[in-house]
Amino acid sequence: MRRNTFIFNLLLCAFLCAVSTDAQTLRSPNGSLVMDFSLTRTGEPTYRLSFKGKPVIKESKLGLVLKDAPALRAGFTKVTEGRQSRDETWEPVWGEVRVIRDRHNEMSLVLRQASTARFMIVRFRLFDDGLAFRYELPDQPGLQSFVLDDELTEFNLTADHRAFWMPGDYDTNEYSYNTTRLSGVVVGKARNNGEINFSRQFYENAVQTPLALKTDDGLYISIHEAALKDYPAYYLVVNRVTFRLTSHLARNSQGSAAFLNTPAQTPWRTFIVSDKAVDLVASKTILNLNEPHSLTDTAWIRPRKFVGVWWEMHVGRSSWEYGATANVKLGETDWSSLRPTLTHGANTENVKRYIDFAAKHGIEGVLVEGWNVGWEDWYGKWKENVFDFVTPYPDFDLEELKRHAAASGVKLIMHHETSASATNYERRLGEAFAFMKKHGYDTVKTGYVGRIIPRGETHDGQWMVNHYNWVAERAAESRIMLNVHEAVRPTGLHRTYPNWLSSESARGNEFNAWSVGNLPEHETILPFTRLMGGPMDYTPGIFQLDLGVYREGKKERVRTTLAKQLALFVTIYSPMQMAADLPENYERSLDAFQFIKDVPVDWDDTVVVNAEPGDFVTVARRAKGRDEWYLGSITDENGRQWNIPLTFLTPGREYIATVYRDADDAHWEKNPAKYVIERLTVNSSMSLPLALAPGGGAAVSFKLR
Ligand code: NOJ
Ligand code: CA
Repeated sequence: MRRNTFIFNLLLCAFLCAVSTDAQTLRSPNGSLVMDFSLTRTGEPTYRLSFKGKPVIKESKLGLVLKDAPALRAGFTKVTEGRQSRDETWEPVWGEVRVIRDRHNEMSLVLRQASTARFMIVRFRLFDDGLAFRYELPDQPGLQSFVLDDELTEFNLTADHRAFWMPGDYDTNEYSYNTTRLSGVVVGKARNNGEINFSRQFYENAVQTPLALKTDDGLYISIHEAALKDYPAYYLVVNRVTFRLTSHLARNSQGSAAFLNTPAQTPWRTFIVSDKAVDLVASKTILNLNEPHSLTDTAWIRPRKFVGVWWEMHVGRSSWEYGATANVKLGETDWSSLRPTLTHGANTENVKRYIDFAAKHGIEGVLVEGWNVGWEDWYGKWKENVFDFVTPYPDFDLEELKRHAAASGVKLIMHHETSASATNYERRLGEAFAFMKKHGYDTVKTGYVGRIIPRGETHDGQWMVNHYNWVAERAAESRIMLNVHEAVRPTGLHRTYPNWLSSESARGNEFNAWSVGNLPEHETILPFTRLMGGPMDYTPGIFQLDLGVYREGKKERVRTTLAKQLALFVTIYSPMQMAADLPENYERSLDAFQFIKDVPVDWDDTVVVNAEPGDFVTVARRAKGRDEWYLGSITDENGRQWNIPLTFLTPGREYIATVYRDADDAHWEKNPAKYVIERLTVNSSMSLPLALAPGGGAAVSFKLR
């Protein structure tokens, strides 16, 4: 008996030993991704990743640099190792699909640095489409409050991949994308790609995430992060010779990266990879890495479309400010000293016009910018108290508009431009939200144009990351929905904060109104980059593409066809979608506007039909709660022909497909506004031919016959 036990133990030991020599390998549930963790001879934590047997990340280092303390970089031994697996589904409050599956294997390694007796945990999660890992610093003697200088995370790539990138600016993501090999990434303080002048706070050769890559052997890769909380955004510093990417964290006003207290954890670093472009675009890994929300009631969160007093200011037809020459001071505004410009956009009559248009066409929301005092003084001043968010201009009749909107069944959408004075906004937020509730607003579009106050902080730093998240939490308490402009790029936090419906954080349609514009390829890159982190308020739907009509000699133009503007409602996902053009421009093309009226903003299912970064994207989505599909297809400056298999439709049913497509001679530059609308009966065994003009697109609705 005793002997038997002994033998059993021996066998058990042998088994365990076999497991433990192999113990630092983590496989994804279907085995397509394999990650190896190891400590080098000097105790540096490293990892490697392969996809379907091919290396995709070579040995790469991990670690953290503390200020005034030894770096957590080397001299580690492994103390213990934990393993876990998860396979469950969950339902987002709103989204591209009704049900999301979270299936991954996890390995956490407790490491101890002998020289400092400090513990650091590295937690890895391996999904079938990607790797995620984060650092955790448990509460421990000698490490309670500390300053983080930087992170040593590396992605040591295997070759000179093609990259879709923009400069790693601490203050903005509103750049055009560059497409080069990694060896061609050049970001320096002197180089700003001819863009408008933001902060220019670049770190030498750093690029923004999400970074999209394509390898010569046909893999698509997205590197980003998930669950950015109490930490700065990170950038990737590109080594043009070795193709090693090294993380760099946005600086704070003290020149360091973050102030942290144990227990502390970093956001997840994510590396999503697929041999199919469509699967990369459809990945839910970043959402899965975010925490579920803790709201008990979410019925008040309602995705919606909206129009607004907005584009008319961007094209220069009216103004945000009431009196351009006035010297306005909050609280002591002397209206008699103001000279109202005839074109103040947010005047009662004009707002009513938008409300009436929205009501007539079943659009739920109306955004009004320029309604409140401060716009005379807001731009480029780096001033503290520009807006109070509760004082309307004298020609904006708050009560009358509240009554008119309610009578029309339309929700007004509040606008809070903070001019990047986050401290001012935080002080006034309680009052501003109470004001909104009192006057019937349940949604606010916020904005952070300019240099951040507190001075020395940046849009992407830890201080501002905490600010955005804090505002989202306060908004949820007041049952307010958010659409945030100029914030740090999203990292899937809309799972945790489902009232944070949308963000800008990239170059939106507005750039077509007053800058060199967005290249025809721009929107085909977004799904592989910015949209990996979350929904975008791109503000599609411009029908009047030649902007010369607004002012003689105005050269700017929207660099797409009209049909492509319709397709963007499907290809760019957002639960808050603006039909951005002026009512009179829609009135002239009501047949095309019908697609905007019909297209939902919340979905039960999404199929990415085809996609190639920089070239084209086609997406089909099923409306929430009904058997109705919408398809959007867009292309870059090249025309394309598709034959789209309609296999996503329910078999055995017939649908009326209404196709909104480019006219045969349409062209984004030469003939952008010409479109054709066709109707046909289709079913799931058919294919739909679609022709896209250069810079064009197509939008299709499929309704049951
Ligand atoms: C920039 C935002 O992106 C835009 O939508 C807004 O109209 C202006 N700031 C003014 O707040
Ligand atoms: Ca903006």
